[in-house]
Amino acid sequence: MFDYIDGGAEDEVTLQRNQADFCRHQLVPRVLTDVSHISLKRRIQGIDSSLPLILSPTGGNRLFHPAGERAVVPVAEREGLIYSLSSMATHDIETVAALGRGPKWFQIYVWKDRGVVREFIARCKASGYHALILTVDVQTFGYRERDLRNGFTLPPRFSAASLLDLALHPAWWWNVLTKPTITLANVAGKAGAGVQSATALSHYTASQLDTRVTFDDLAWMIEAWGGPFLVKGIAHAADARRVTELGASGVMLSNHGGRQLDHAISPLRALPDVVAALEGRADIIVDGGIRRGSDIVKALCLGATACSIGRPYLYGLAAGGEAGVERAVHLLKGELLRAMTLLGCDDVAKLDRHFLAE
Ligand code: GLV
Repeated sequence: MFDYIDGGAEDEVTLQRNQADFCRHQLVPRVLTDVSHISLKRRIQGIDSSLPLILSPTGGNRLFHPAGERAVVPVAEREGLIYSLSSMATHDIETVAALGRGPKWFQIYVWKDRGVVREFIARCKASGYHALILTVDVQTFGYRERDLRNGFTLPPRFSAASLLDLALHPAWWWNVLTKPTITLANVAGKAGAGVQSATALSHYTASQLDTRVTFDDLAWMIEAWGGPFLVKGIAHAADARRVTELGASGVMLSNHGGRQLDHAISPLRALPDVVAALEGRADIIVDGGIRRGSDIVKALCLGATACSIGRPYLYGLAAGGEAGVERAVHLLKGELLRAMTLLGCDDVAKLDRHFLAE
């Protein structure tokens, strides 16, 4: 499980570069400014967020902690953050909506069965989701060698090492065996009546990835949804421009946390060209390699609207459930506040390139 969260594709060059690229920029603090009150608030897709930070859609949360997404949603709500639910989540659209009134986004793919896409859109509307995120960088699954080595495959393959590892984690087993079956709740029933197993449903999902999807499908989805719409997995300024021309209200610069195309450009590196191309016409979210408050500062200095995190809250979830997710968010918030104070800047809206040196 740890490697599934922590790992990336192939040689993990992109995984590492996502973080390393933040080190290419140096912060240039200004002194003797009043930093007694610092605003960390950010308006993202028309929502007032307490931080320039979003919780990214991540699948399979109950594999990491028995409460799964239920442990993440309340933290987002308490902290005033947007929560995004993955279509590969282990709790469904309606259950997550019922957990609280905080702003929620839903992540979706264009699946071969457009009926399923239409159904998801209708369910999200009925449950009051605020925005849709279309993931466009999973034409096929990346080659994640840690998962292959660990037998975290479809179907699972148990080696002597993985069996020993499982034997050493009886509490995990106890939870798996005594709690309701872990399933991909949003697609339960889609692979045949009564089919619940996460393995079978993952197979179904993989079979639904459509390699023929184009910008036309995007135009159709944006129209069908009719609300805030973000495209996740953008790396090129021309693509960012094209999706916004088609009506997307936000782009998420992302390489799927280095889990898809290894050697893909880091979101931070792609950011300046996208900022120049969009000229403020859409929100730009940077997703990948955010591990410190100062990383958020740097992305905003380069023109991002906000950042988005996946692994940081999943490490917290796996280690400590809801308290762990909260701790992860508090660490980032504390670091962001401290970085702003030491930078001499009292509002995240004032961050710009003057605070950076190459
Ligand atoms: C799913 O989107 C994953 O990256 O595992």
